[in-house]
Amino acid sequence: MSAITVKMGGSLAGKKESMGELAGDLALLQRSRECVLVHGGGAEVTALSKRLGCSPFFEKGIRITSVQEMDIVEMVLSGKINKRLVRMLSSAGINAVGVCGADGGLFRGKSISAEQAGSTRTGTITGVCPALLELLLARDYFPVVSSTSMDDTGEGLNINADEAALEIAVSLQSESLIFLSDIPGILIGGEVLPTLNEGEALRAIREGSISGGMIPKVKAALSALHRGVGEIVIGEYSGAGSLELLLSGKLGTIIKLN
Ligand SMILES: Nc1ncnc2c1ncn2[C@@H]1O[C@H](COP(=O)(O)OP(=O)(O)OP(=O)(O)O)[C@@H](O)[C@H]1O
Ligand SMILES: [Mg+2]
Repeated sequence: MSAITVKMGGSLAGKKESMGELAGDLALLQRSRECVLVHGGGAEVTALSKRLGCSPFFEKGIRITSVQEMDIVEMVLSGKINKRLVRMLSSAGINAVGVCGADGGLFRGKSISAEQAGSTRTGTITGVCPALLELLLARDYFPVVSSTSMDDTGEGLNINADEAALEIAVSLQSESLIFLSDIPGILIGGEVLPTLNEGEALRAIREGSISGGMIPKVKAALSALHRGVGEIVIGEYSGAGSLELLLSGKLGTIIKLN
C-alpha cells in the first residue's frame, strides 16, 4: 500500500466547517489507504508577520524569509496551524500526530542564500528520511506535517509546503499527490483545465498565465511525476465527498507528463 499525500493550502486550514468535512473524508479514506497530510499556511504567516512589523517578500511565489520572520513562520506553521489540524482530525476519530521537517530527521535542508542575494531562512530540501512517517503509518497514526525544518547547524528553515509535499510523496512513492488550494484547479483564461501536460505547464509559467504560488505547486507536481509519483491533482476542497471526486479525476486539474 502506497500512502496518499495530501497537501493543503493555508486558507483551507483556517475554515472550520470545511476542515471538519475534510477530516470526515480523510477518516473514510484512511480505512482503505495510508495518508499523510502536509500543510502550508502562507496567509496566516503573512497576517501575523505584518502585525509584528515585518514586510513579507516573495519571489516566483516563494516567501523569502528573513531571520526575524523565521520565528513567526515556526510559531504559525508548526504551532498554531499544525496543532489546530491535529485537534480537528482527532475529533473526527483520526489518530493524528503533528510533526515538522526537523522531527525524526524527516528533512535535511539548507538555506537558498547561495542562490539569493543576502541571507534568508527560506530553505530547500537536500535529503529526506521517511522512517518516522513509515513508523507512524505502520501503527495506524496519521502524520500531519508542517514544512519548517533545520539546517546542519540547527537553525530553522522555512520550506515551501509544496516542495515538502513533493519530497514526502516521492519518498513514500505515493500513488497520488493532491494539492488542495483555494482555486478549483489550474485556471487559464478563467477556465479550469481538466488536464495539463509538462510542455503546456512550462509554457504557461513562461508566459505568465501560471504565476505566484501556483509556480512552486506546478513545478513540484512535474518533479513528482518524473520521480515516480503516480498522479497529481490540483484543486479545491469543496465539501464532503469532494476528496474522492478529486482522487478519481472528476474535479480539479490532473497534471501529466505528456
Ligand atoms: N493559472 C493559475 N491557476 C490557478 N491559480 C493561479 C494561477 N496562477 C496563479 N495562481 C494563484 O496561485 C494561488 C495558489 O497558491 P498559494 O501559494 O497562494 O496557495 P497554497 O499553496 O494553496 O497555500 P499555501 O501557500 O498556504 O500552502 C491561487 O490562489 C492563485 O492566486
Ligand atoms: Mg503556496
